[in-house]
Amino acid sequence: MALDEVITVSATPNIALVKYWGKRRQGEDCADPALNLPQNSSFSITLDAGDTLITRTSVVFSEKFTEDVFYLDGKKQDMSDPELQERFFAINKLRELAKTDAKVLVVSNNSFPTASGLASSASGLSALIFASAKALDLRLNSDKLSEITRIGSGSACRSLFGGLVEWSRGTMPDGSDSTARQAFDERHWPELTTIITIASQEKKKVSSRAGMKQTVATSELYKARPALAERNVKSIKEAIKNKDFEAMAGIIMRDSMMMHATMLDTKPPIIYLNGVSRDVIYAIEDLNAAEKRVVAAYTFDAGPNAHIITLSKDVDMVLNKLKEVEGIEKILMAKVGAGPKVLGSAESLIDTSALTPILTQKK
Ligand code: PMV
Repeated sequence: MALDEVITVSATPNIALVKYWGKRRQGEDCADPALNLPQNSSFSITLDAGDTLITRTSVVFSEKFTEDVFYLDGKKQDMSDPELQERFFAINKLRELAKTDAKVLVVSNNSFPTASGLASSASGLSALIFASAKALDLRLNSDKLSEITRIGSGSACRSLFGGLVEWSRGTMPDGSDSTARQAFDERHWPELTTIITIASQEKKKVSSRAGMKQTVATSELYKARPALAERNVKSIKEAIKNKDFEAMAGIIMRDSMMMHATMLDTKPPIIYLNGVSRDVIYAIEDLNAAEKRVVAAYTFDAGPNAHIITLSKDVDMVLNKLKEVEGIEKILMAKVGAGPKVLGSAESLIDTSALTPILTQKK
């Protein structure tokens, strides 16, 4: 085991084209809700927006440490926070496998606002678990790694892979078959481009974790969702295999609206979209109607920022149309990403000899 060795990793968010919104409750197919077992399979693109949308995380496990310490964006986190403790179940799982009680120092920076609906939990947790498994010298296969990452954050298990990724629901109560796998690599359809319109960088009021729990517990509409999402995963794989943009785009837009419909049907209602999101939806619908073909598709996670999927040849047309929408603060562009990367010690956020955080450096 490589105790006292600092490992630094970068990872990027993914955008779900078929959404995960709801965990299984304790029962026949779920031994423990903390395992983050989904009600349905989901499907995503791993994003590569260069330095604008990336998490960099350094970790080191050491017997010299007396407690786990976690710095996020330069701030020491309160380890007694229940949501953080749940995320650290995944770290405990790794310690169990490595047969060590060594405490960990984690220093992580997001190049974009945390918890604003830009999937910071996906890039954050995938970087954390990928780096920690390496720091503990655990040679886990990708299924096992994704199973453990899923415990930290559901959507994060998809960010462990590049390209287009499927997270299968699975049926085992212990979650051993609820893992993510690459369906197509980043070279399959490199023209796929994601335009992210930032309408707000505020921290969301309801976390996705709390929100989805409430939806499963109270929404009538949600009862129909798992089977429809499962069908959508099947159809989107077929559309992507054939590079059928129109078919893919149709599934993306309806799946996103369907998820947000179940949120509206939640008691009390959960509303992540805002007026700018609505205007982006109308702008894309307008563009597709005017061009008499499907130029672009919109999708929204748990936040107001649109992810617009299009092909490189149509990017300028979409950007031009978006100029008509008021209130977009910023636009980011992403290609299909290649997944987490191990970085050299020059990029470390932990001083490799003193094993202390380097907090001034933020990239
Ligand atoms: O796993 P979490 O807590 O990051 O929840 C993800 C939920 C959505 O982003 C809304 C959908 C998805 O599949 O990524």
